Amino acid sequence: MADPDGPYHVVLVGMMGTGKTTVGKRVARLLDRPFVDADAELVRRSGRSVADWFADSGEVAFRQAEADLLTELLEQAHPTVVAAGGGVVVEERSRARLSRPDTFVVWLRADASFLASRVARKEHRPLLAEDRVGTLDRLAAERQPWYAEVADAIIDVAPVHQRAERPKWVLAEQVVDAVLAHESAGAVGR
Ligand code: S3P
Repeated sequence: MADPDGPYHVVLVGMMGTGKTTVGKRVARLLDRPFVDADAELVRRSGRSVADWFADSGEVAFRQAEADLLTELLEQAHPTVVAAGGGVVVEERSRARLSRPDTFVVWLRADASFLASRVARKEHRPLLAEDRVGTLDRLAAERQPWYAEVADAIIDVAPVHQRAERPKWVLAEQVVDAVLAHESAGAVGR
């Protein structure tokens, strides 16, 4: 685990289509910390696409593998930036891990209408194979309390997209500001 007095692991959570991967990469670069996209890492290690996981082993097995990987990634002492899969909060043990004090969790929050306009019908998102908008709506409502439970900071994505020219860069800067504010508050308390 990272030092509970910081610097912390940074984990981005939020629904599919909020930009966790792109924002996470940029955050890692700005903080000069390593970056891991959890889905991509799972695919790399297992040699199976997310769609294959869902089709061959089912969602429950995928959630277990996702939770195992999260535990492992956050076990390392070196503070790391992780873009989690959108459904990571479904699993109770993942929420418990995210709630530990060595990990700073940022929820990139957006409602279903914003997400629907951004999430293409892509193969790596098997949950959206049918009724994309309805599914996003249902999942966003179901997961909202879980994202809220683990989040140390919440950033609303849609207003930044409406306002800014390079929204994901601006979002990354907002994440970094939140991380640094939290870390310097921790340092003051030491
Ligand atoms: C999922 C989100 C996806 C991927 C899988 C399931 C979800 O990750 O883990 O398709 O349940 O929200 P992204 O949020 O990175 O697209």
